[in-house]
Amino acid sequence: MRHYNKNIWIVLLVMMALLSGCTKQETETHKTLRVGVVLYTQDDPFINALADCLKANFEEKESDDLKIIMTVRDGKNDQSEQNDVVQEIIDAGCDVLCVGLVDRTEPSDIIEMAQTEDIPVLFFNREPVREDIMQWDQLYYVGAEAEQSGSIQGELAADLIQDNKGIDRNRDGKIQYVILEGEAGHQDTIIRTDSVVETLMDKGIQLEKLSYQFADWKRSQAENKMTQLIDQYGDEIELVLSNNDEMALGAVNAYDKLDYTEEKRPAIFGIDGLEDALDAVQQGTIQGTVYNDKEGQAAQIANLALDLFQNNSLAQYNFQDERYIFLPYQKVDASNVEDYQKQ
Ligand code: BGC
Ligand code: CA
Repeated sequence: MRHYNKNIWIVLLVMMALLSGCTKQETETHKTLRVGVVLYTQDDPFINALADCLKANFEEKESDDLKIIMTVRDGKNDQSEQNDVVQEIIDAGCDVLCVGLVDRTEPSDIIEMAQTEDIPVLFFNREPVREDIMQWDQLYYVGAEAEQSGSIQGELAADLIQDNKGIDRNRDGKIQYVILEGEAGHQDTIIRTDSVVETLMDKGIQLEKLSYQFADWKRSQAENKMTQLIDQYGDEIELVLSNNDEMALGAVNAYDKLDYTEEKRPAIFGIDGLEDALDAVQQGTIQGTVYNDKEGQAAQIANLALDLFQNNSLAQYNFQDERYIFLPYQKVDASNVEDYQKQ
């Protein structure tokens, strides 16, 4: 009889242990972070590469206790379309929003929708102005300082011009240049353009502007614009400063198609450090680029999203202006391009 009692107790204890184990596990696996990522377009190589990094970062953060669902949607380069997409994502259930605004001056509707549902918004790449970010304390920006990318591009170009007298092909003491610009109104268009020219002048390079052309960040548009410029200026063009790599590669395509020999081509500089451009630097078809740290930006976005979701302290973030995180740009030319290709 005593023996029998003891057995019952053991069975009961084991059952209780199992039951409590089960409940514990259940509540923990129920933690799911739903991240809505809304891009300004899905037709931009830098943005797509950044979104891939973001996905990898969130996947790495998953565990038995935490499931992360990242949904990527396309704003189709239309602000009202993007607003609708954000509303849909919120309606479907979302804990944190990551938004690359179509129009960086028009975040108000998105902010209002998010605030109503108490969903933090991490803007990235397309920088909203400070007054907008300060509207609510759950708004952040992760990106890089446009000014720095322009000045690094200027340093790269100045170094090459100073070391290589042949860049001034017509030997008039001035560098005849053209600029390929991104979208009008984008911080990286306005500020990169200003700061690259300013840096070259500060370095004592005499410049003569031949033309500025918008090509909306796109390789094909830049190829068209560059073909027209070559038609107009021929081998007078000694330097092409491009607001990004895609457009720099478009310029290379234009020279390729017109069968320009190396001696007649200008020096060409981009920004971003995407794979194709790194290969072009290595091959010498473009002379340098400025690394736009998509890995670093994605890591910061993912960390911040998770910390906000878990209500963790944000003390370890290096915020500028309280809500902005800027990752540094890096100089890339033939001397160090291989370090980046291995990344
Ligand atoms: C990148 C461009 C990209 C643009 C999109 C810039 O920071 O350099 O390549 O097209 O962001 O907003
Ligand atoms: Ca010249």
